[in-house]
Amino acid sequence: RLVILDFGSQYSELIARRIRETQVYSEVMSYRTTAEQIRQLSPKGIILSGGPNSVYDSRAPQCDPEIWQLGIPILGVCYGMQLMVQQLGGQVEKAERGEYGKASLHIDDPTDLLTNVEDGATMWMSHGDSCTRLPDGFEILAHTDNTHCAAIAHHEKQLFGVQFHPEVVHSIGGIALIRNFVYHICECEPTWTTEAFVEEAIRDIRAKVGDKRVLLALSGGVDSSTLAFLLHRAIGDKLTCMFIDQGFMRKGEPERLVDIFDNQFHITVEYVNARERFLAQIEGVTDPEEKRRRIGHEFIKVFEEESERLGPFDYLAQGTLYPDVIESADTNVDPKSGERIAVKIKSHHNVGGLPKNLRFKLVEPLRKLFKDEVRKLGRAIGLPEEIVRRHPFPGPGLAIRIIGEVTAERLNLLRDADFIVRDEISKQGIYHDFWQAFAVLLPVRSVGVMGDQRTYAHPIVLRLITSEDGMTADWARVPYDLLEIMSNRIVNEVKGVNRVVYDITSKPPGTIEWE
Ligand code: XMP
Repeated sequence: RLVILDFGSQYSELIARRIRETQVYSEVMSYRTTAEQIRQLSPKGIILSGGPNSVYDSRAPQCDPEIWQLGIPILGVCYGMQLMVQQLGGQVEKAERGEYGKASLHIDDPTDLLTNVEDGATMWMSHGDSCTRLPDGFEILAHTDNTHCAAIAHHEKQLFGVQFHPEVVHSIGGIALIRNFVYHICECEPTWTTEAFVEEAIRDIRAKVGDKRVLLALSGGVDSSTLAFLLHRAIGDKLTCMFIDQGFMRKGEPERLVDIFDNQFHITVEYVNARERFLAQIEGVTDPEEKRRRIGHEFIKVFEEESERLGPFDYLAQGTLYPDVIESADTNVDPKSGERIAVKIKSHHNVGGLPKNLRFKLVEPLRKLFKDEVRKLGRAIGLPEEIVRRHPFPGPGLAIRIIGEVTAERLNLLRDADFIVRDEISKQGIYHDFWQAFAVLLPVRSVGVMGDQRTYAHPIVLRLITSEDGMTADWARVPYDLLEIMSNRIVNEVKGVNRVVYDITSKPPGTIEWE
């Protein structure tokens, strides 16, 4: 494995993903990790990430200076390189001119780290400081027009530094550089493969759970579905999948989920029809956060009742992913057993969040994985493509896409309109061009005319967006013809709708959902 010490760069996670793409396992750890702790992990290499600080600030994060003596190859990226230079006796100063964006890399020494990186390759820079004096034994491997020390090395000690960010996609040749470090300098073997992960995960799950029973709350999303497939493979019928139907899913979705799991893959799903309960809970509620709160609260109640009915269970399976682990370093550990317990759950958690005081022990076999690795895993263990590549869907579902009060009638109306949106993009083979594509129902009414009749009915908003990660998003430039087809169908087929509008707001300043 490789260890990445994180100094607060927005790219630390990206470095980890890039390394894993070379089929080598990598982990992000705090910059405070001591040399001794690192030694115990026996990594083949260490990467020091970038960071927002200047190394000469009094409060700048420092790494344990003992790491230079570990005899493990180290690559410092941006701040990481400056830290290396400073701690080993060189000098870092504010640059005359900062360097932000693309820069051409002029290679002075095309060996080891820069093998197969083309002279003049574009690299992504983002720094206001520069190394003005290198520590003893270091050489310059490359420079740019603005930066003397763009890449440096102490060959004998296997210490390397780059001022640019090889991990971002705009850095042409960045991947080659990372591969050089991983394979040639650290001499890693490409062992981080999905097959190896499945084998190890199944072994671990069996060893941990034994013949105890495990409960899993299935939402139909890719994480909980992959988790269900993996656990079922490991422990068979000791796994119980519970699917709580809140009544806010899209048309046909609950039936489809049960059909896929039960009939196609013989993984029994305990289907809990709680539609009326949930609807009763949010009757008359118009405030979005209050809707979420009540739905989350009811989810916990139903979950508790049903787990009691179906139980007892020793373990709860959770689809915690690696980014959640990095973000919530303050993991909650049961003082008696030393097991992690479910206490802190993100408010955006897919199943709406689980009870705070559940005393289940947790199984979290996906906690080493990034989202794209979960998709790969899902595919590898036979999860159907329609689940693997399903658009994200919020836990509270259609309830937060009905602006204002949610009623059974409005739910049906939105469900029909939403179906048409998905149906049309599927027919045209462009479903995967979007991050999400859905309909929103507004509580206002407008005048229309159908035949000789005046109508006074609700508008539907079409929201079709593209995005990399849901953090930022853009409205999709879909063909007018497609909008026309959707609009015609919705107004004609969905009773109670007489107008369709297209949302052309990006995020920011808008959000993806309307509530
Ligand atoms: P926003 O609307 O904040 O959405 O731009 C970003 C992403 O999060 C999803 N989303 C939710 N997911 N529970 C969830 O599980 C929620 O309450 C929730 N609200 C928004 C949204 O669909 C988008 O993918």
